[in-house]
Amino acid sequence: MSQNQNQIQSSSSSSRQESQQQVSHPQMSSGYATIEQRLKYISDYNFPYCDESAKYEKVAKIGQGTFGEVFKARSKSDNKFVAMKRVLMENEKEGFPITALREIRILQLLKHENVVNLIEIVRTKANKNNKYKSIFYLVFDFCEHDLAGLLSNVNVKFSLGEIKKVMKQLLNGLYYIHSNKILHRDMKAANVLITKTGILKLADFGLARAISISKNGQPNRYTNRVVTLWYRPPELLLGDRNYGPPVDMWGAGCIMAEMWTRSPIMQGSTEQQQLTLCAQLCGSFTTDVWPGLDKLELYHKMELPQNHKRKVKERLRPYVKDQAAVDLLDQLLILNPEKRINADDALMHDFFWIDPMPADLTKMLSQLTQSNFEFLAPPRRSNQMMHRYQQQAANQIQQRPQDNSYQDRVY
Ligand SMILES: Nc1ncnc2c1ncn2[C@@H]1O[C@H](COP(=O)(O)OP(=O)(O)O)[C@@H](O)[C@H]1O
Ligand SMILES: [Mg+2]
Repeated sequence: MSQNQNQIQSSSSSSRQESQQQVSHPQMSSGYATIEQRLKYISDYNFPYCDESAKYEKVAKIGQGTFGEVFKARSKSDNKFVAMKRVLMENEKEGFPITALREIRILQLLKHENVVNLIEIVRTKANKNNKYKSIFYLVFDFCEHDLAGLLSNVNVKFSLGEIKKVMKQLLNGLYYIHSNKILHRDMKAANVLITKTGILKLADFGLARAISISKNGQPNRYTNRVVTLWYRPPELLLGDRNYGPPVDMWGAGCIMAEMWTRSPIMQGSTEQQQLTLCAQLCGSFTTDVWPGLDKLELYHKMELPQNHKRKVKERLRPYVKDQAAVDLLDQLLILNPEKRINADDALMHDFFWIDPMPADLTKMLSQLTQSNFEFLAPPRRSNQMMHRYQQQAANQIQQRPQDNSYQDRVY
């Protein structure tokens, strides 16, 4: 068991003990304690396994996700940089949010070179100024860049060998998490971090979950509205709730293509439009290519564009050029999740084993003088390819009202 796991378990049992203490503490039981005494007790209490955030000094804000802010910070003890992700406690009536607990639990399980490392959880001291409510942060090893930031910087140019290195590490990370029965469920360039020495780390396990073993052969009923729309695989768009690792492989395919196109390849603004974009690239949804497709919940509710030929290779070749890369992309961007290549097989693909071989990124990254994060980058430019898709989408589907109910993350 890792030290972190120990910490959390001990800290949750200590908080249980603490609440028992509170009940038996004469001053804390109702009738004895004044509000002031109660608040003093809270502000003086020292959580044994959750240090104060004051041991870090914030340097800059580097991220603003749906679930809170991320800061670059420096450890006061050894000057090391970390990233601090604030746990959003608003709307929490029931104490520490279960979604954050799930993210922490999964991060504690996953220890791998290509997965972001959670160092610890810290908190601010409860006091009058914060209305006696602590703020909690997840503290991670700091990575200098995220892939979305790097791709939106025109000065960053990846050679073919460097793209291979990025993809190899990304697939290694996915292979590792899938072998540990974890689904990421939010693959996208902004959730892929890269250190200044070119080590890639999968990040943002805020939507991740463990794969359950279905009971008595009953299909799983996972939440369906996961994965940022532009990276959402066809099975999710069709309402599948019994999905698995292929959902992350689709995202890996979208990210791989983006290494050349430099912006997301399918930028739908509604779920219907996203599905149409998938069909325009990967061909029409038919039971020939995807047996069982008609059993999915939304099969009869969504409009499935007919008579589209599969054009993955044709569309991507002008950008990607390398034959092996186009071939691997063609296997990642497969509509039928059962036919989509898995991380293990993708790592065995010729792409990684023919010249140029995967090449170290350190030299290329050492030319950058600043961190590149999506949050700090100018709004990402759409490219020609995306324009073409959107044009077609506009021509071919009746425009529907914007899906205002769409949210990045829904539990
Ligand atoms: N360890 C880290 N090092 C550097 N930047 C990070 C780190 N973790 C997160 N970030 C930055 O903060 C952004 C948001 O963090 P993320 O974990 O994805 O949270 P959210 O759930 O808010 O999207 C990331 O896209 C990345 O730019
Ligand atoms: Mg994120």
